[in-house]
Amino acid sequence: MTPEPFRRKDLLSIRELSAGEILFLLDQTDSFREVNERDIKKVPALRGKTVVNLFFEASTRTRASFEIAGKRLSADVINLSATTSSTQKGETLRDTARNIEAMATDVLVVRHSASGAAHYLGRELRCSVVNAGDGCHEHPTQALLDLYTIREHKKDFQGLNVSIVGDIAHSRVARSDIAGLLKLGASVTICGPSPMLPAEAGCLGARVTTRVEEAIEGADVLIALRIQLERGAGANFPGNREYATTYGITRKRLKSAKRELLIMHPGPINRGVEMSPDVADGPFSVILEQVEYGVASRMAILYLLAGRKADEPAPSPPRLEEQAPEPAPLRRTEDALAR
Ligand code: CP
Repeated sequence: MTPEPFRRKDLLSIRELSAGEILFLLDQTDSFREVNERDIKKVPALRGKTVVNLFFEASTRTRASFEIAGKRLSADVINLSATTSSTQKGETLRDTARNIEAMATDVLVVRHSASGAAHYLGRELRCSVVNAGDGCHEHPTQALLDLYTIREHKKDFQGLNVSIVGDIAHSRVARSDIAGLLKLGASVTICGPSPMLPAEAGCLGARVTTRVEEAIEGADVLIALRIQLERGAGANFPGNREYATTYGITRKRLKSAKRELLIMHPGPINRGVEMSPDVADGPFSVILEQVEYGVASRMAILYLLAGRKADEPAPSPPRLEEQAPEPAPLRRTEDALAR
């Protein structure tokens, strides 16, 4: 498998990407990680470009990391949430998005409860659209940062066993992760109570089990998922205590696990339900690494969509001091204010 340049207008799903495109996006993330380790975490790559985060659902990690990613690339970043936008007055998604585009927006990052919302906007708009999560459908940027985190630790996807445990039916993260992992050669097991396994489970290409012990045994990576009560999981949810007893990832349950098992979670975690605190914060957990790599991964995505012409080779990101004038020393600013 060799990387293939990512030359798309939008990033809408993992399912539509080739394995080569995914590898290319992971390789690009490496370059941007270096920027985040610098003293001055900023490069001028997207100076003069505008990124709008349009979120119709709650978010901490995705929205903050897209904002940080855009700002570290020197783009102008605007955040809009449904509760403070004119959708409250009845404006449609299409009208809202077209009005944002009319302000010469380069990239629209959208999260919406409707599956297909990002694809719809991708067709309607000339600017780039990034899917930051659409209903139960896909969360491609979460999958890219998950795949990057796994590759950092396991180096290769071939022969890797990845188990995903929890509310698979309502999880866009699971659908994107499964698609990406299978494309890159990993084997995937999905596990949860029957009502939380998707109707299409047999078509996803993953092994299916309702026994968490079976999912843990032989796994190299274990991804735990939150119960998505906001998407209707509550109708068949036995309650936190029963779920934790039957499916919660605890130290006791991990006694039969491989020694180098990687513990992941896309967040937010319901501690003590899908995962005990000592596992979430334990030595095999890479949950905060996922968050850290999410910024570099989203920098790579924004840069490839807005900062580079399709046939241009992807350079390593320039250092700020190579392209931008140094900021005026603070003392000079103080002198000017004192005058
Ligand atoms: N993983 C994830 O999408 O987290 P947020 O909902 O906080 O963005």
